[in-house]
Formats: sequence, C-alpha cells, structure tokens
Amino acid sequence: MKTTISFSTPADLETEALVAIVLDQSNANPNDKNKKPELKVTTTDTAIQSVSADLLASGEVSGKTFETNLLHKPTMLKARRLLLVSGGSAKKFSSYDLRRAAGTAVRTLKSRGIRSFAFIAPAGIPAEESVRAIVEGAHVGNFDPDYYRSDRKDQKIDMLTVIANGDKAALEKAANEAQIVGESQNFTRDLVNEPSNRMTPTILAERAKKMCAEVGLKCEVYGPDKIKEMKMGAFWSVAQGSDEPPALIVMTYEPSGAPAKPVLGLVGKGITFDTGGISIKPADGMEKMKYDMAGGATMIGAMRAIALLKPKVKVIGIVCATENMPSGKAQKPGDVQIAMSGKSIEVINTDAEGRLVLADGLHYAKQLGCTNLVDAATLTGAVVVALGFNNAGVFANDDDMYNRFHAANTKAGEKMWRMPLDDEYKEQIRSSIADIMNTGGRWGGAITAAMFLKEFAEETPWIHLDIAGTAWMEDQKPWIAKGPSGIALRSLVEFVKSFAA
Ligand code: BES
Ligand code: MN
Ligand code: ZN
Repeated sequence: MKTTISFSTPADLETEALVAIVLDQSNANPNDKNKKPELKVTTTDTAIQSVSADLLASGEVSGKTFETNLLHKPTMLKARRLLLVSGGSAKKFSSYDLRRAAGTAVRTLKSRGIRSFAFIAPAGIPAEESVRAIVEGAHVGNFDPDYYRSDRKDQKIDMLTVIANGDKAALEKAANEAQIVGESQNFTRDLVNEPSNRMTPTILAERAKKMCAEVGLKCEVYGPDKIKEMKMGAFWSVAQGSDEPPALIVMTYEPSGAPAKPVLGLVGKGITFDTGGISIKPADGMEKMKYDMAGGATMIGAMRAIALLKPKVKVIGIVCATENMPSGKAQKPGDVQIAMSGKSIEVINTDAEGRLVLADGLHYAKQLGCTNLVDAATLTGAVVVALGFNNAGVFANDDDMYNRFHAANTKAGEKMWRMPLDDEYKEQIRSSIADIMNTGGRWGGAITAAMFLKEFAEETPWIHLDIAGTAWMEDQKPWIAKGPSGIALRSLVEFVKSFAA
C-alpha cells in the first residue's frame, strides 16, 4: 500500500472514498437508558459536517465503536463516497482506537472493490501519532489469509492518503516509518499463516535469508551438525525426533555509528509444527499448532523493520526452528538433556518443547554478546487461561527493562500484561535427578514456563513475551481478519528504537 500525506481541504480531494471518524460527544452517564448520543464528525471541514448532519441526527447511527455508514455521491464533496466510521465516546478515543478504525475502513472499502481512499486524521490526537496509527492500522486491515482458496479475490487497498495538518516532512517520515512497520507485520503474518508442510524449518530459514539479503542484514543459518557441535542439547532434544532438519537462524544488524553496547538479542520460538512429541497432543485443534513458530516469525519481521528504520543500536535476531514430532528417534518423558549452558534438564513432558529450544537460544544470544534479551513465544496454554485472547503475557527479571518495554508497548498500541516471576515459583520446577524439570505442574503454568527460561537468561536483563493467546485471531474483527495477528512486532520495534533515541 502506497501512503501519502495531503494538506488539502477534505471536501476538495478527489478520491474513491473519503473516511471520517464520528465520535459521541455526550457527557451523559453511559448507563442512562434515555441517553442519546451526540454524534459529530471529527473534522473542521464544514462541507463534511453538513453532508453528514442529517444521517448523524437521524437516530439511525449508534456511534458504537467500528460501526460504519457509507454515503454515495455526497453533495459538496469531490469524493465519490463518504465513509463514516464510529469511534465510540470522544472522551475515551485514543490512537489505539484510531488504529482499529483505520483497519475497519480498509476492510469495509476493500470488500467493495475499492482500491484507494483518503482518511481524515481526527482532530484531538497529535498529527504524527495519528498518521502512524492510521497507516499501521490500515496495513493490519489490508491482510487476508485465504492464500490457497481458488476463489481468493485478493482485494487490497493500493493507495492511502492521510489528510492531516502539520509539518510536512515530519508527517511524511511518520507515514514512511509506519508503512515499514505495517509491511513487516504483514510479512510476519504471511510466515505464520503458512501450514507446516509449506513452512518447514528449512523454508523458514530460506525466507529469513531472502529477506535479510533484500534489506542488507547479515544472516547465518546453522543445521543439525552445528547445533550438536555447539552442544545445544536442549534445542537438539526437540529436533531429534523429526525427519525435517532444524535450523538455527541468526540475523545481525550492526549499523555504523552504533555504540558497542547495548547489544539487543531478539530470540524467537520457531516450532513449525508442535505435535507434542511422545507426550502427543489430542487431535482436536492440533492443526493450529502450525502457528507455534509465531514468536520466531515475529523476530524475523522485527529484524526487517529494524534494518529499514535504521536505529543506531546493535540487534541480533535468533530463531530456533524445528518441528516437535514423535518417532523412534524422539526424546521420551524422563530423558535428561544437557543444555548449552551446562544445566541439566529432566524432560517430564515432551510437549513443553518451546522452553527447551529457547533455553539454548537465550544462552547463545548471551554468548554472542547480547546485553539485553527479549524472547517471544507461543509458549503455554496456561497464559491463555490466565489472560485470554486480549493481552499477551509479559515477564521480566528487571524493572528498568520492563518499564522501557511497557512504554514501547503502549506507544505501539498492543495490549500486554505483566505477570510475576517470584523466586518461590522455582520450587515447582526443581528436579530430583537434574538441575530443573521442563514442567512445573498444573498451577501457574505460564509462570513456571517463564521461570524455566529465567534460568537461562540468568542475570542479563530480559523480557519474555508469551503470545500463545494473541498470535492467532480466533475470529475476525472489523479491523482484522481471522488468522495470524503479527502481535508483538510493533512493540519490539518501538522497544529497539527506544535504545537509539
Ligand atoms: N505450543 C504450545 C503452547 C500453545 C498452546 C500455543 C495453545 C498456542 C496455543 C506449547 O508447546 C505447549 O504445548 N505447552 C504445554 C506445556 C505443558 C505440557 C507444560 C501446554 O501449555 O499445555
Ligand atoms: Mn508443545
Ligand atoms: Zn509449542
């Protein structure tokens, strides 16, 4: 999607569709049954105010979030259509909602065969923030996962104009950066969307290599021999059961002029299919385990965005990619594995494989000189029990690191919630035969999984993102298709940028 900034009066812009946000200005108690919304378009353009006045006063428009109303041949406007997207209460409206409103506009218009439109940045949100939110949200809305359908229409918006006021150069920079982030998020979603027969560890590594060559990143891929030679016993224990060779993907971003420190390490879980291994999963819903490489795909997409945005900070992206399969070569419950760090692990459940591959990924990142670590993984069903589908779990062993991440995460408009990592939980993963066990029993499963990872991050400031409940949209929403969400990429990119500011 091409994006441009325009300073023209909305009414004077020739476009297939002009989009304006409608907000409810009423201060009445929302629980008041007799409350009537006071709906207003968020533009000072009097022509638009007057074309929409009758509709907004008709009582037919509720003003509830993401309601859409389309007017054809609006008088006084050069645009062929006017789309009103409701954003709910004016008091609560923020760039978080604006992002979703932009996605809603894209999905409403593209399903009608429209290819280009202009979006009026609403008054009330600073222009640069608005532009970012609109362009990012529009990209999110533009993605559809129906690649293998013969009747795929591949309807897409090609061209987005954002109508705003402010410094042209600054707004264009915001739009370009948001476009890079939006495209990278969709690149990640493309990877996650592929089924496991079309996204093996080898293919994932090839896709990463191709992307790295395009954006000027160094990329190395190591296979089974090197993984064994480096004594990545935890990673290998998962890979050993599969006929598909594993891949350790290492992407390096070292811009000239970046300080020697920090070196940020982004480590992703890249299980291209998780059967559970010998502790095999039930058949029901197992097909979804193709998205168990979402953390890895997020890191690959984040590296793409970082290479194009060029912040002056060193970043290394690491993805531990393998299938988790049962076979005659597969590891078995009770097996003891020695991780790269030297720690011994009793494998109680072969389905707790993500933490095994990440254990070596995190240790390896430290060996490469990373001073700060972030991992992303579809790690546990337990995080879905705890937080549902609307918040990813965040774990941190360092408050400064958490605060910085939280700020980035808020700016990026993604929802995440901090979970505890108290020492007491460690008792649950104590083993009688080895240093630790790979499961901690029924209670607090997302936390004990994170405690396991903490044993490998050790003293290095570290953030763990459990995206099991958020990486895949179970249902479509007005602003996003059902399928891979690309969650966490925007937060990671903001986080990396914060070190270069
Ligand atoms: N990949 C799964 C976690 C998962 C569950 C991701 C649901 C997405 C949706 C992970 O490898 C796993 O199987 N975890 C087990 C751990 C248990 C055996 C300790 C789980 O959560 O059940
Ligand atoms: Mn598993
Ligand atoms: Zn898994």
